[in-house]
Amino acid sequence: MYIKKLNIGNVELENNILLAPMAGVTDLSFRKICKKYGNPGLVCTEMISSKGLYYNDKKTEQFLELNEEKRPIAIQIFGSDSEVMGEATKKVESYADIIDINMGCPAPKVVKNGDGSKLLLNLELIYKIVKQTVKSTDKPVTVKIRTGWDAENIVAVEAAKAIEDAGAKAITVHGRTREQYYSGQVNLDLIKKVKETVKIPVIGNGDIKSASDAIKMFEYTGVDGIMIGRGILGEPWKIGDIISELQGNTDIKDKTPMEKFEIIKEHLELEIKEKGEYVGIREMRKHICWYLKNLKDSSKVRQIVNQLEIKEEVIKTLEEYFNSI
Ligand SMILES: Cc1cc2nc3c(=O)[nH]c(=O)nc-3n(C[C@H](O)[C@H](O)[C@H](O)COP(=O)(O)O)c2cc1C
Repeated sequence: MYIKKLNIGNVELENNILLAPMAGVTDLSFRKICKKYGNPGLVCTEMISSKGLYYNDKKTEQFLELNEEKRPIAIQIFGSDSEVMGEATKKVESYADIIDINMGCPAPKVVKNGDGSKLLLNLELIYKIVKQTVKSTDKPVTVKIRTGWDAENIVAVEAAKAIEDAGAKAITVHGRTREQYYSGQVNLDLIKKVKETVKIPVIGNGDIKSASDAIKMFEYTGVDGIMIGRGILGEPWKIGDIISELQGNTDIKDKTPMEKFEIIKEHLELEIKEKGEYVGIREMRKHICWYLKNLKDSSKVRQIVNQLEIKEEVIKTLEEYFNSI
């Protein structure tokens, strides 16, 4: 009843539960693990600077590593210069199935340049950027927004209209303002209003951590799909569990500690393969902390792993821990 295929332009998603883009988290190896164990309908890269792409910045281009990745995939770009966004789109479109534009990032270093959620203060510019991006590619363009800049500037509905008029094929709404960052309640009323206003698919986002949260989002707002971010940290299989529960399965079993250990090892191998041991191990530290968070007596092992630099040592330490619980 809730789980459906979702069409975004000419791209058909197998299901309507999407993995949220998260800078510093949803890199290639994490997306691969999420797809293998949770099968979200769509995954998205971390946000990529349109200026970095435009100026051929090598570090920026690393985000385009999509090696052997199962499709479909969305590439998310950010920026506030419509011409640069158009040119960046031309550079990435051959890698992507969908181009997503970030209009929600609250980070000071992003908004100080007029990018991310700062765009919500300028509806004309929103229209112009989406229009130029759409013009630059045959791939469907989608946009991810917040509800507004702050409580005095709630623009979700007007922004959604501008985005649809400019030719975007779907909108994701994180139900908070920029000012709220990640605190306070997600505003489901505004997500509902956006859904009632536009004809293109609307994806609801914010604080979905369980099947019951997902049902609440679907029932209250009528959205076509949902997007989950922080709720899967340390549990990259969780989207699969939520899909299964929404399909009526009442017997979803938690992963055993040993199953978790196997997934951590696989994730670690991928991360090292993609980024090398030095960076890969450091990237994995936060993931390992999330994986171990709710396991018995894990605080000490988390501290130890945070100091380790060699793959074999990390695995040995985790093996001893998992054997002990
Ligand atoms: C660490 C982190 C990084 C994020 N990076 C991005 C990003 O690159 N692009 C984006 O559109 N949203 C980004 N977000 C926002 C999420 O995609 C999502 O909208 C938000 O976390 C709310 O959903 P959730 O409650 O399911 O996590 C990020 C969030 C977090 C926690």
